[in-house]
Amino acid sequence: MYPRAMRSVGGGGGLARRHFILYPRTAPRAGQGRAGAPRRKGILMANVVVVGSQWGDEGKGKIVDWLSEQADIVVRFQGGHNAGHTLVINGATYKLSLLPSGVVRPGKLSVIGNGVVLDPHALIEEIDRLSAQGIQVTPEDLRIAENATIILSLHRELDTIRESAGAKTRIGTTRRGIGPAYEDKVGRRAIRLMDLSDHETLDLKIERLLSHHNALRRGLGIAEVSAKSVREELSNVAPRVLPYMDSVWSLLDRKRREGKRILFEGAQGALLDVDHGTYPYVTSSNTVAAQAATGSGLGPGAIGYVLGICKAYTTRVGEGPFPTEQDNHIGRLIGERGREFGTVTGRPRRCGWFDAVLVRQSTRTCGVDGLALTKLDILDGFVEINICIGYRLDGQEIDYLPAGEHAQARVEPIYETVAGWQEQTVGARSWAKLPAQAIKYVRRIEELTGCPVALLSTSPEREDTILMRNPFEA
Ligand code: IMP
Repeated sequence: MYPRAMRSVGGGGGLARRHFILYPRTAPRAGQGRAGAPRRKGILMANVVVVGSQWGDEGKGKIVDWLSEQADIVVRFQGGHNAGHTLVINGATYKLSLLPSGVVRPGKLSVIGNGVVLDPHALIEEIDRLSAQGIQVTPEDLRIAENATIILSLHRELDTIRESAGAKTRIGTTRRGIGPAYEDKVGRRAIRLMDLSDHETLDLKIERLLSHHNALRRGLGIAEVSAKSVREELSNVAPRVLPYMDSVWSLLDRKRREGKRILFEGAQGALLDVDHGTYPYVTSSNTVAAQAATGSGLGPGAIGYVLGICKAYTTRVGEGPFPTEQDNHIGRLIGERGREFGTVTGRPRRCGWFDAVLVRQSTRTCGVDGLALTKLDILDGFVEINICIGYRLDGQEIDYLPAGEHAQARVEPIYETVAGWQEQTVGARSWAKLPAQAIKYVRRIEELTGCPVALLSTSPEREDTILMRNPFEA
């Protein structure tokens, strides 16, 4: 007998039915789409939030780029230059970390919201790199929230020192200073973008910041940082960054009232969320969909459709629990075929089977309306495929990832084995082109996660996408 929660997992189709009974779609009010979105050309328009449903690297880049064609504005709302994706447009390859994907498409407004931690050096480098490729990022195209937190060199240094200190405390971060910058934000001692233009208060802010950091540095036995060097660092970057500064909450509010379509571009994945992820092996921001509102200065009603991206299998980089990890020839095969190496750090990613428990949990914590399933083709040719449908913990069967670090490390996956397919799915652009077993696999994922698949991606090419439901018209 399963404990109460487990029964819903085993139920398969029953779970899906129950899901829709429990969470009925509310009818839009007259003249409005979901969440009060305006109509355009008779189509119901929703703003769309794209989030990762696993540990990041789900292939958000291609999906965001595909959706950004239909959007007026693309907004980053959390994280920083720890994210990374590669866009291939008309044969040219663009590598983005901090800038929203809209920057490579003419006529789109790109916005970096207050929820992002902004490394001005990384920003300038990325803008210059794009410029060398023929893409000019002007203040017409890019706006940055005046209340965004700045990442300084001392944050990067601290991140690296901590990560190098010892295997027991290592998180496996990108060493970009993300965590230390967020610490200063909630510690109320951060330097924010607007401070670069306010010379009267900047000195005091630097003093407050350094009283914390220099105490820490003395404890670590490393050289203290002088106020002069921080001031110099900021005054060097200020002329390049300040022209992009804006009151983003107000800008987005205005655009929204004008009926513009907003695409919120999440970075990392729900399982790296600082509250809902595999804490402490997480990033330092909220990566769940609700952060799109907080991290851009809009109310929760501004979020329309939530699209959760997930791979047909699972990967993670860095340390931390990973119940379905295949530290064997299967994991290596998936990694090689899926080219699973970090875009930012080049680290090989850990690989494993699809974990329906985790993705179902992410669909709940993010309020996912539909999934975009990516990299199905990597599983082509497997005779059998395992799907994790539950966990065993201390002799009990459970259908969720427990919150405790120790319990997360102990859960053992319960697998359901399904038949694979020998035909190729790579490049398929319609359901009709998919082998029957591949369709069954997708349907099983829908049943187990209780969430419909809205998009299926069958190769890195943007055209190799099977669309079941357009998120902007949902
Ligand atoms: P941080 O965000 O650099 O502090 O790293 C914290 C954790 O998040 C580490 O496990 C990183 O590997 C992971 N992480 C951060 N950004 C990404 C990403 O874009 N994709 C996948 N993992 C990431």
